[in-house]
Amino acid sequence: MTSSQLPCGVRIRGTGSCVPERVLTNHDLSKMVDTSDEWIVQRTGIRERRICDPAREGTFTMSRDALARALDAAKMKGSDLDLIIVGTVTGEMACPSVATRVGAALGAVPAAAFDIAAACCGFVYAINLADTLIRAGRFRAVGVVGAEALSTITDWADRGTSILFGDAAGAAVLVRDPDPRIGCLYQTMGADGSAWESLYIPRHERDIPEKDRANPITLGNLRMNGKEVFRFAVNKFREVMEDALTQAGLDSQSVGQIICHQSNVRIIEAARERLALPPEKLYINIDKYGNTSAGSVGLCLDELWRAGKIEPERPFVMVAFGGGLTWASGVWRV
Ligand code: UT7
Repeated sequence: MTSSQLPCGVRIRGTGSCVPERVLTNHDLSKMVDTSDEWIVQRTGIRERRICDPAREGTFTMSRDALARALDAAKMKGSDLDLIIVGTVTGEMACPSVATRVGAALGAVPAAAFDIAAACCGFVYAINLADTLIRAGRFRAVGVVGAEALSTITDWADRGTSILFGDAAGAAVLVRDPDPRIGCLYQTMGADGSAWESLYIPRHERDIPEKDRANPITLGNLRMNGKEVFRFAVNKFREVMEDALTQAGLDSQSVGQIICHQSNVRIIEAARERLALPPEKLYINIDKYGNTSAGSVGLCLDELWRAGKIEPERPFVMVAFGGGLTWASGVWRV
C-alpha cells in the first residue's frame, strides 16, 4: 500500500465567504414590484439581500474571493491545492468553468478544476465529493466553493422569485489528514429529475414545459413554482435530517450545529419543530442575505466557523435541497 492508499481523514483547514457590497432591502423591492416588507418578512424571513454590480462582480469574482479567504484562514496558498470544485448554476460561461478561472487567479495551476450544477445543493454536493476523492487517495488538498449570482438570472418583475434570492459565495479548504475519525462521517446525495419543472432556467423555447407556455417567460431567467418547491423542501428536509442523525448515531442533544440551506425561514422552522431541534442549533442568516442557492451553506459554515461555533469532536450536519430536484446531507467531525 502506498501512503495515499492508507485510511485517512479529511480536515477542514479554513473557510471563507464573499457577498457583494450592494444591499437590496424589502423596501427597495416594494418600489419595483407589488409587495411589502411585511409580506416578505412573514412569508420568508428575509429583510435584505446582497446583489452583484454586474460591471465588476459575479459568480467568478465571489468564488475567487471566498476561496482566497479560506486559503488565508488555512494558512495555505493556491499552489497547495490539487483540485478546485465550484457548485453553481450561474457560471458566467459554459466553458471555461468558474473553477478553472478561480484556479488561475489564485495561482493553483495545474490543479484540476470543474463546476457542478446541483442548484441549492451545490456546496454540499461539492464538499461531499471532495471528502470522497481525498479518502480515495486521489487528491490531498481541495478548494470547495458554492457560489451563485442569482441576480443575473432573476426576472425582477416576478414577485414570486425576485423577493427570495440573493448573491453570495462560501468556500472551504479540505486537506488529507492521518486521523480517519475526522471529516465526513456520513453523507447522502439524491435527485428526482421527474420533478424538474418546479424550478428551471430555460435556454430555448423548447425547454419551457407545456403548463408554463401561457405565461410570459424570458429565456435565461429562473422560473419557479414556489408552492411545489416549498412542499418538497419541508418533507425532504425532515427526511434527510432524520436519516443523517440516525445513520450517524446522533440525536437532537448530541449533534452540534445544523447548517441548512437558507431557502425560506418557514421551511427551516417547520423541519426544526417536527424534529424537536433546539433553535440555537439551527443557524439562520436568511434575514441578511436571502436565499443564495449554492452560496448559502458555505456562507453559513464560514460565519459559524469564524464565530467559533463549530466544536471539535461534536459532529455537525450540512443539509440542502433544491432545483433538479436535488437533496444532500453530510455529517462532519472536525
Ligand atoms: O432554494 C430552493 C428553492 N426554492 C425554495 O425553497 C422556495 C420555496 N417556496 C417559497 O419559499 C414560497 O413558496 C414563496 C416565498 C416563493 C412564496 O410564498 P407562499 O407562501 O408559497 O406564497 P403563494 O405563492 O402561496 O402566494 C400567497 C399569496 C397569493 O395571493 P392570493 O392568491 O392568496 O391572493 C400571491 O399572489 O401571496 C401573493 N404573493 C405575494 N404578495 C406580496 C405572492 N408573492 C407575493 C409577494 N408579495 N412577493
